[in-house]
Amino acid sequence: MKVDVLLGLQWGDEGKGKIVDVLTPNYSAVTRFQGGPNAGHTLEFEGQKYVLRSIPSGIFQGGKVNIIGNGVVLDPALFKVEVEQLEASGHNLHERLLISRKAHLILPTHRLLDAAYESAKGKGKIGTTGKGIGPTYTDKISRNGLRVGDIEINFEEKYKAAIERHKEILSHYDFKYDLEPIEKEWLAGLEKLKEFRFIDSEHEINNILADGKRILAEGAQGTMLDVDFGSYPFVTSSNTICAGACTGLGVAPNKIGEVFGIFKAYCTRVGSGPFPTELENATGEELRKLGNEFGAVTGRPRRCGWIDLVALRYAVMLNGVTQLIMMKSDVLDGFDTIRACVAYNINGRETDELPFDISKDVEPVYMDFEGWKTDMSKVTSEAEFPEEYKEYIKFIEDYLGVPIKYISVGPDRKQTICRGIM
Ligand code: GDP
Ligand code: IMO
Ligand code: MG
Repeated sequence: MKVDVLLGLQWGDEGKGKIVDVLTPNYSAVTRFQGGPNAGHTLEFEGQKYVLRSIPSGIFQGGKVNIIGNGVVLDPALFKVEVEQLEASGHNLHERLLISRKAHLILPTHRLLDAAYESAKGKGKIGTTGKGIGPTYTDKISRNGLRVGDIEINFEEKYKAAIERHKEILSHYDFKYDLEPIEKEWLAGLEKLKEFRFIDSEHEINNILADGKRILAEGAQGTMLDVDFGSYPFVTSSNTICAGACTGLGVAPNKIGEVFGIFKAYCTRVGSGPFPTELENATGEELRKLGNEFGAVTGRPRRCGWIDLVALRYAVMLNGVTQLIMMKSDVLDGFDTIRACVAYNINGRETDELPFDISKDVEPVYMDFEGWKTDMSKVTSEAEFPEEYKEYIKFIEDYLGVPIKYISVGPDRKQTICRGIM
């Protein structure tokens, strides 16, 4: 069987966690393939709300294997917090959660380096989540990283050498820090991590497929934050696109099945960087308020704007999306007019292809849609869709050339409509 991939098509926070949870019953295993605790994936069911950061969102559906893949970067200290919160609410993960030996470890000094680099950038800062993601991937690529598998062999020596190297780098920055308390927390996290089973995940994953079972790969961040194709340098440090699932799990491209591309019916972004359809006005405020657009983990207000179909079509192309999933259209329920960006006007020239630089001179060209003025959060089937709503989604499907298979109309697991298409 194949690995189906679910990934964000915008700047993250599209609602990946919720939909992975909804789709998990169709799969034997759920895997994360990139990113780390920069992610915050929210799930709601039975009146409970959970935010997952490193643990796959398939963990709440019984009897499924959940794997943290080799492409992920893992912080033991934050992992411990996440595990303990789940344990406190009655979820024991030990049997179901497996961790790749090839996943890289975020060391306490990686977090300090992240902060030092950001403060050195001053006004040009990326607005990272401060979780040490960039420095950890930097060490991976420069062949200086420590991996989960290293915990099993001479770890102390390797850890000390890495910390010394990082301290040396930090000494070149005008940056004060106190390593001791965070190191203490980190080492406690390491003990927690050791309670879990470390595996050669590429074998495990391919064996599951060879047994005729299906796997769902859960993306983190979004396509516009991809290190190659996103709004560089205002991106994260991993490949968030579908190809990242191959390298981040050890599965061949011909083992990828469906590619679920998930997007909000409008658009948000956290941190710095270009955002052509951003609304720095009362409408943007309203989207933030109605959509509760504040970071799942950091609480940072998310920047809000209209849906950008130019960027979305680019994302569909890069990922080979086979099915679309539209989230949070309920947030637009009260709007008289809903806008969608269908082209960019750059110095008088119109284009519907995403250019190299979207940081300046990009004027969105909008198409206006009549609002549906219906409480969509109660809608359970397509038969109840108002005409205006049908027009809006039909336009998006035609523009992107891919059907919208699932529509989410609220944060709860149950507020999900599966359309009878395909
Ligand atoms: P992720 O990082 O892609 O998993 O998304 P986040 O969890 O960071 O952000 C999505 C937010 O939207 C969470 O607070 C969800 O509970 C919420 N959410 C998900 N789907 C819907 C929806 O259809 N409608 C509304 N109103 N909220 C939703
Ligand atoms: P999920 O998986 C939204 C953003 C940060 C910053 C940039 C780089 O919940 O969708 P990093 O810490 O990765 O070096 O930060 O990427 N960012 C996210 N934005 N959702 C996320 O994850 C994000 N993970 C990172 O805000 O702009
Ligand atoms: Mg999130």
